[in-house]
Amino acid sequence: MNWDHVVSAATRPPWVDSLATTVQGLVGRVYEAAGPAGQQVQNVLHGTWLGHPLHPLLTHVPVGAWTIALTFDLLDAVAGQKELAAGADLAVAVGVLGALGAAAAGLTDWYKLATGQDKRVGMVHALFNVGAATLYATSLVFRRNGLRSLGRGLAFAGFGAVSAGAYLGGHLVYQMKIGVDHVPEEQQPEKFEAALPEAELGEGEMCRVEVEGTPVLLARRNGVLYALADTCSHLGCSLAKGELKDGSVRCPCHGSRYALEDGRVLDGPSVFWQPIYRVRVKNGQIEVGKRREV
Ligand code: FES
Repeated sequence: MNWDHVVSAATRPPWVDSLATTVQGLVGRVYEAAGPAGQQVQNVLHGTWLGHPLHPLLTHVPVGAWTIALTFDLLDAVAGQKELAAGADLAVAVGVLGALGAAAAGLTDWYKLATGQDKRVGMVHALFNVGAATLYATSLVFRRNGLRSLGRGLAFAGFGAVSAGAYLGGHLVYQMKIGVDHVPEEQQPEKFEAALPEAELGEGEMCRVEVEGTPVLLARRNGVLYALADTCSHLGCSLAKGELKDGSVRCPCHGSRYALEDGRVLDGPSVFWQPIYRVRVKNGQIEVGKRREV
């Protein structure tokens, strides 16, 4: 079976795109209204502080808890192990709470990066997961009111929905490369190479050069030269088209901000540090050398 065709069919209806646009607009307006605090919340939810996307870590909570609930429910229903019923209920509740955190992180990653198929796949992924969380929350209500069989049935349906959502989450990462580091590994000059006449880079300026096929961002601030990989680790835009400000460079595409001195992420959505290179001036030329580990 060609699952790509299934994904294409599921994401093709026009309402998926318009719903995605509406949700993205809403999330964007909420963060915009929150100002700098909103940026801090986004950094936390992206995982900028962790150096790893937070969303895939959080999804383990609902998926793990609901897998436990499924096992306990089956043992209760099929093997008559009634003593597991309370454990199943607790696992359902933990999963619902975990799903809230995972949804917040996922929405934050998705709302401003998606423009085409990734936007639609992300929307359908979210719909399956919201559907699963709703089914589980309703299941919990039925369980509390003595309608255990109905509650178990809803939970089984929820497990099907979250499995479909998890498949689409994997599709976003493994097929569409969302959430992975977009700086190619081979972007590492091996020795100092002339990159630009020194006179062509003024104070407070930056530009893109190629050093042995490697795109490098050169910047000068307070008389100090900096060299970073020009390919943004978030989704591969050129940082040279962005903004140089206060010792950092901001990507023009989705606003990730990197420190010039060591390439660390100051603002997401990127969570991966930008590689930096040795840089010097020799015979009137700016030369770029090996990657500098920090
Ligand atoms: S490509 Fe998205 S922030 Fe740079």
